[in-house]
Amino acid sequence: MAPITLAQKLFDLTGEVALVSGASSGLGRRFAQVLAAHGAKVVVAARRADRLEGLAGESERFFPLAVDVTDAPRLAAALDAAEAAAGPLTLLVNNAGIGGGGRIVDTPDEAWEQVQKTNVDSVWRLSRLFAQRLIARHSPGAIINIASLVAGRVGLSSASYAVSKAAVLQMTRAQAFEWARHGIRVNAISPGYVHSEMTSEFLASKAGQDMVGRSPQRRAGNASDLDGVLLLLASRRASGFMTGADIAVDGGHALA
Ligand SMILES: NC(=O)c1ccc[n+]([C@@H]2O[C@H](COP(=O)([O-])OP(=O)(O)OC[C@H]3O[C@@H](n4cnc5c(N)ncnc54)[C@H](OP(=O)(O)O)[C@@H]3O)[C@@H](O)[C@H]2O)c1
Repeated sequence: MAPITLAQKLFDLTGEVALVSGASSGLGRRFAQVLAAHGAKVVVAARRADRLEGLAGESERFFPLAVDVTDAPRLAAALDAAEAAAGPLTLLVNNAGIGGGGRIVDTPDEAWEQVQKTNVDSVWRLSRLFAQRLIARHSPGAIINIASLVAGRVGLSSASYAVSKAAVLQMTRAQAFEWARHGIRVNAISPGYVHSEMTSEFLASKAGQDMVGRSPQRRAGNASDLDGVLLLLASRRASGFMTGADIAVDGGHALA
């Protein structure tokens, strides 16, 4: 029988080098802090460089990378810079994302395209660049894609966002299937409504309060509610046989 690994060792990420996109606020900032607290070096990527510098001031395990994930031609050079600073990447958290409100008939092409470019295309490109590097150096690794509760549901004013997150889930499965033979695990987290810059206005509104009131746990989540799932999927000791999974962290909202 395999020996039992105690939790502290099971989730020890010493030696891992992660890139978290959208680390300047909300879930991504918390993901970066949790990974670093468990020993990983973390490249914190986003557009707001001042926020990233603030994070870098907290720990020498953070490496700021100012990048727009929709700037396709720059992404390869950005990963080169990340690896030059922190070392060869082993973990990628595709977290950068934007909301997309409005009814379909009121959504101009530009708004649709911006949501898909940020939420879908960047995940495709960053994952591909990451996997190419790991495959070339025969290194195992893991990708965690941040999907959403609405990947499997539709609402009256979030169609472009819901479509983008459904694509993220299907991309997770396709990537997991293709890269399992290379030792690269790919899983998704589907959060429900979590307090962040993206959701603050909605959660403070009457519609938001009503929605939370109808959800099974009658509360919105906090970024810290995702700590355990993030660590599970990041740790090859803890989830080495998991790939292609989607884990809901939504207080039971998807059941309602
Ligand atoms: N909060 C929720 O209830 C919830 C639920 C389900 C899923 N999610 C998903 O969780 C992820 C994080 O969202 P959040 O709630 O934490 O929102 P947030 O606080 O608004 O954070 C979004 C992050 O994405 C970054 N970002 C956006 N566009 C970018 C671009 N073009 N290039 C680089 N970075 C970009 C932002 O950084 P800069 O502006 O500095 O670039 C920011 O760090 C998103 O994928 C979101 O869809 C959130």
